[in-house]
Amino acid sequence: MKFFVDTADIDAIKELNDTGMVDGVTTNPSLILKSGRDILEVTKEICDIVDGPVSAEVTATEADEMIAEGRKLAKIASNIAVKVPLTWAGLKACKVLSDEGQMVNVTLCFSANQAILAAKAGATFISPFIGRLDDINLDGMELIADIRTIYDNYGFDTEILAASIRTVNHVTDSARIGADVITAPPGVLKKLADHPLTDKGLESFLADWAKTGQKIL
Ligand code: E4P
Repeated sequence: MKFFVDTADIDAIKELNDTGMVDGVTTNPSLILKSGRDILEVTKEICDIVDGPVSAEVTATEADEMIAEGRKLAKIASNIAVKVPLTWAGLKACKVLSDEGQMVNVTLCFSANQAILAAKAGATFISPFIGRLDDINLDGMELIADIRTIYDNYGFDTEILAASIRTVNHVTDSARIGADVITAPPGVLKKLADHPLTDKGLESFLADWAKTGQKIL
């Protein structure tokens, strides 16, 4: 299972990347706004840090302009995945860009039928948004499971990138279902290491170690 970090915060990316946990990065216009940085500059900086795919999102709504934006974003680095929305214009842009050999991440996916369209358009990644479905009382995990079943039924090689992850349980459930990738904010990824029994166990080991009076270094 691959971990992408869902942020344009350079310090957070560097910190997680140093642990070997970052297989890629996803950004979107809201995350670029949050970073306060220029999209081309910050995306280049991210691509210099991370070897895996770095998603950069187009902002046009018409296919021709999306394609032009995608080609410009793709020039930033060889590991760019151009992110396009799941609209007919986005699917057309996906088809053109993926035919050119460009990685494409089709984003804002909220149904299994949308995921089928993205796979047929040649998407490298499909991004179903779990948290935003949960927000409106639907089951985001059910969508991940449906897409897994359908892609396996037909041998689609588009990778399922479980997105809009809000909790550590979303990560576990995505892994159980067999999502290829999860993208999560740095805070959620960091929480994956937490367990009260780990803290308690470490505390008692360190207390006993202090009583031995020994030092390793
Ligand atoms: C994915 O690529 C998106 O950037 C992201 O996961 C959206 O998450 P949100 O619904 O928490 O904004």
